Amino acid sequence: MLSYRHLFHAGSFADVFKHVLLTRLLLSLNEKDKAYFYLDTHAGTGLYDLSRPWAQKGREFESGITKLWDRTDIPAAMKPYMDIVRAENADGHLRYYPGSPRIARKLIRPIDRIALTELNKTDCAELHALFTRDRNVNVQLMDAYQGLKAHLPPKERRGLVLIDSSFDRSREFARLAEALADAHTRWATGTYAIWYPMMGAGVIRGFEKQIEAAGIRKVLQFELSILPEDASTMPGSGMIIINPPWKFDTEMRTLLRWVWSALNVKSAGGVKVNWLVRE
Ligand SMILES: C[S@@+](CC[C@H](N)C(=O)[O-])C[C@H]1O[C@@H](n2cnc3c(N)ncnc32)[C@H](O)[C@@H]1O
Repeated sequence: MLSYRHLFHAGSFADVFKHVLLTRLLLSLNEKDKAYFYLDTHAGTGLYDLSRPWAQKGREFESGITKLWDRTDIPAAMKPYMDIVRAENADGHLRYYPGSPRIARKLIRPIDRIALTELNKTDCAELHALFTRDRNVNVQLMDAYQGLKAHLPPKERRGLVLIDSSFDRSREFARLAEALADAHTRWATGTYAIWYPMMGAGVIRGFEKQIEAAGIRKVLQFELSILPEDASTMPGSGMIIINPPWKFDTEMRTLLRWVWSALNVKSAGGVKVNWLVRE
């Protein structure tokens, strides 16, 4: 039974952080002519109407995309992400927020391929409707960890896997690390982006140790938080990137610092960039 629905959280500061990094990773894949594969294991519905009751309940988008919407000083590296969000809201009013599948669809080229897995039947039906008759996109009602086994390695030999779990089950960090080790054995050269909530330094350290123990190399870690660590709600979130593009650490440090300053009203939290394992 899945309790998490992304409808409640769309456009939040965690989504902005995740989707800015996702956009930069896909743009980097676009720099080479050869086709690539994008797998989104926890895809959600793909597009969110922020005027619907679920989104209006906590209005989490106010901690994220709302804060960027009227900014006129968006850095060049962030413009492609903002252009995608703006394209969903052609009348200039922020109402729709694109999820990771929609963002990826806007960025891939005709030669590239997307596979989306989602376990919630209702969300998967919405996702399916969004990509009906789209020959570049394959939507499956499937468990993420089964999907990793089914899709990896891809025939394209280059690409990105986004693992964006809802962390609504116990042991999710451990399960994730085990699945990642297995996926990496199947496809060591792909890029992986794994999102996680900052919910206890001990749990995250355990996750980092499991990744280190799996023998995976070139592991870069980003964290962006906007609340103090002892906050009663999630203060921030992180992303582990395996096989990041060249200079991704320095380029994203600058960009994420800008994002943090734009999102943060209370000057709490910050940005962390750390090589968990180098070459
Ligand atoms: C954080 S949301 C995904 C958001 C989406 N990646 C985005 O950025 O727009 C997590 C999604 O994973 C789905 N989910 C949870 N457990 C899953 C599993 N084992 N396999 C596939 N999907 C799962 C949930 O139903 C939810 O829609």
